[in-house]
Amino acid sequence: MSKIPRYLQIVHSIREKITNGEWSIGTKLPTQREMSEQFQVNRSTVITAIEILKAEGLLEGKTGSGVYIVNNKWSLLTANSPLDWSDWSKWAVHPPSDHTVQIINESETKKDIIQLSKGELGSDLFPHFEIAKTLEKVSSQLHEFGYGDGLGDINLRKEISKHLQKQGIRASPSNILIVSGALQALKLISLGILKRGSTVFIESPSYLYSIKLFRAAGMALRPIQVNKNGLDLKELAQQKIINNLSALYVNPTYHNPTSTIMPLQQRELLIETCQYFQLPIIEDDIFRDLWIDEPAPPPLKTLDKQGQVLYVGSFSKTIAAGLRIGWLVGPENVIKRLSDLRMQIDYGSSYLSQVLVKEFLSSGLYESHLNKVRSALKKKRDFLLALLDLHLCDYATWPKPTGGFFIWVTFNNNINMKKIFKQSLNNGLLINPGFIYNDNKPTMRLSFAFPTYDEMEKGILILKGIIKNNVDNFTE
Ligand SMILES: Cc1ncc(COP(=O)(O)O)c(C=O)c1O
Repeated sequence: MSKIPRYLQIVHSIREKITNGEWSIGTKLPTQREMSEQFQVNRSTVITAIEILKAEGLLEGKTGSGVYIVNNKWSLLTANSPLDWSDWSKWAVHPPSDHTVQIINESETKKDIIQLSKGELGSDLFPHFEIAKTLEKVSSQLHEFGYGDGLGDINLRKEISKHLQKQGIRASPSNILIVSGALQALKLISLGILKRGSTVFIESPSYLYSIKLFRAAGMALRPIQVNKNGLDLKELAQQKIINNLSALYVNPTYHNPTSTIMPLQQRELLIETCQYFQLPIIEDDIFRDLWIDEPAPPPLKTLDKQGQVLYVGSFSKTIAAGLRIGWLVGPENVIKRLSDLRMQIDYGSSYLSQVLVKEFLSSGLYESHLNKVRSALKKKRDFLLALLDLHLCDYATWPKPTGGFFIWVTFNNNINMKKIFKQSLNNGLLINPGFIYNDNKPTMRLSFAFPTYDEMEKGILILKGIIKNNVDNFTE
């Protein structure tokens, strides 16, 4: 055991991180609670260490926001004003995530927080056994460790082509680009196909990173309301749609965050409308395989006779997000263009992940795993719906999702969702408030895919207490 007092050990450790540049000027220090857990000391010891570093001029507290690094050893020694990386990154091409999204991302890795937020399969639905079995099988098939084909592994593209055929999409391997998740497909489209200054029509609310991504690529966003049948087509038809300078991003099947599904008739009408306006469609169909009650209507892509739809899918929601494997289907010239861009950005997806997914599909394990997931999701969805009926029916309403992971809850009172989010987190519960999806109503997204039954029950009880309190205060 070191004889140096614990508070001095903390001082040394922080000083070292500042001096060697690990924590640059502008970095926010972890909270006192996090530091006391990390150093296994009580909070007063952490506070003593912070006070010493403040007196040295290295740290400064900002009211209500936390403690920040304001100087380093070098800046204290020279007259020049120090380099502040955080200031630089404010002007970078890609903006940072919203503050709440950053908090959600950080909190999603914490084991002691109930995650009613997370859009992933929980450990109970993850195919542990099937992945292990597939890995064993592919271990003897691994022989190409180079950068590989810019379009992605040909055998995987053939399997995805077969998979899509079952859904009515005719796409040969040359029409398919393997990507590191659907998000990358959207990024590639925004950088390599859409023109700067063009308008992207998106659903309101919409998948949160779609909002950032198109904006960062210099596009104006025009939100179109989502109603019970998905995107409001009347509203879309009233828009000023400029040829060659507009596109539509849509997630018509188990829409994130509302879980809405667009019926077939609406899909046909949407395709007709977009053909009339020559409006390209980016169809994000990442939740399609996760139907619960009955298979979803066909993808927009199957109704597209003019190559107007770029179709995006992924195995993040059905197998595992960590594999980072998705696909993009489009006309050959688009796929070639984006594969070239892809090579410039990262040379392609992980070879190991590609081979693993290829084997998962061709062995039939994907289909059998999906069957298990669907029946488990049905039970978990019904459980969460029953909890909501029991505990929150006086305060909110929600439609029953027929697939996907989420229940979209709208509160009857205009309660402050920032407050609800904060209070939930302080009580060990993470939810996704609607405002992160650019929804200005009092809404939230709850996931039944990730949490266990026990966590769902505990989480809803925590929420009930918080909501009751806030609504009582609201109506008083
Ligand atoms: C609608 C939608 N599109 C794309 C993505 C990104 O998926 P991936 O992990 O395949 O990049 C998500 C992830 O939550 C999503 O909900």
